[in-house]
Amino acid sequence: MKIIGTGSYLPERIVTNNDIAELVDTSDEWVVQRVGIKERRICVTETTTDMAVAASQKALEAAGITSGDLDMIICSTITSDRICPTTAAMVQKTIGADCPAFDVNSACSGFLFALDTADAFIKRGGAKNILVVGSERMSKIVDWKDRSTCVIFGDGAGAAVVTEGDGYLASKLYTKGGDDVIDIPWDTTNSPFWKGEPRDTAILMKGQETFSFAVKRITEDVSYVAEQAGIALSDIAYVVPHQANLRIIGFASKRLGIPIDKFVVDIEKCGNTSSASAAIALDDLVRSGKLKRGDIIAMCAFGGGLSSAVNIIKW
Ligand code: UT7
Repeated sequence: MKIIGTGSYLPERIVTNNDIAELVDTSDEWVVQRVGIKERRICVTETTTDMAVAASQKALEAAGITSGDLDMIICSTITSDRICPTTAAMVQKTIGADCPAFDVNSACSGFLFALDTADAFIKRGGAKNILVVGSERMSKIVDWKDRSTCVIFGDGAGAAVVTEGDGYLASKLYTKGGDDVIDIPWDTTNSPFWKGEPRDTAILMKGQETFSFAVKRITEDVSYVAEQAGIALSDIAYVVPHQANLRIIGFASKRLGIPIDKFVVDIEKCGNTSSASAAIALDDLVRSGKLKRGDIIAMCAFGGGLSSAVNIIKW
């Protein structure tokens, strides 16, 4: 597999830390220092599908193919507009594609799980061009009264078109299942027979446990996957990490011995857009014009599940 085009979309509405300080007891200073976010984009009218479509169209344009050339669409999301049809199915209809389309959910690691799934389908044969898109409207599931989470998340989408090639060198997917660290309940029911307690849908997260998990997984798995790919860490031109906390990226840089200026960072303007995050950062890197053919990129993501994923890509 290789990536032949990327795209991203951010909603127009900018919400600053000071805007959120009007809702909860927080400050611009705390959020900038502890997380690294200055502002994030929040949907006012855009849906998860709208953002996925906008990012996908840019990725198709960059790849130089049309929706009719697609053999598959895989969308990662935890904030689909509907349980059914999937976001991927709605993207398929909107862009006018004629191919199988389905969603995957592995929370913030979802886009990397989706890329790995695309690689597997290409290796199996039968699918040549696959659109992989991560789209998240986190603002609809954030508890806007909880200052420890509502300052972190943002909305957005990122996409990549992949095709047959030799640019996907190695990967590792990891899951340590459980709801004790990150939990987003989805317990609404119409059933007159259900006896369980209803729970509101909201992000419940133990921040420090998630932080430690993230640093450990990035550090161990980037090293492991680099070894699998037969490259040294010093061969990595850019690291494209999930944008959850600037301090996580700082720790990863220090522990891996990869200079911080090799990490793509857009957290200050996007916040944490869950599974769209690494996809948006990848598109930022591609559109910056810094990438040269043959550059080695390490993508990494982590989050609910708990889950994490790392891949090594040759551009
Ligand atoms: O994408 C999914 C993966 N998610 C992550 O990777 C998130 C990883 N975790 C984090 O990024 C950080 O743990 C957080 C940003 C969530 C929290 O930062 P922290 O430095 O770990 O803060 P804390 O939870 O240890 O809280 C420290 C203090 C507490 O006050 P006291 O008890 O010391 O008085 C919190 O109540 O900071 C307080 N606090 C805040 N203060 C101002 C928590 N949130 C806020 C806030 N504004 N927004």
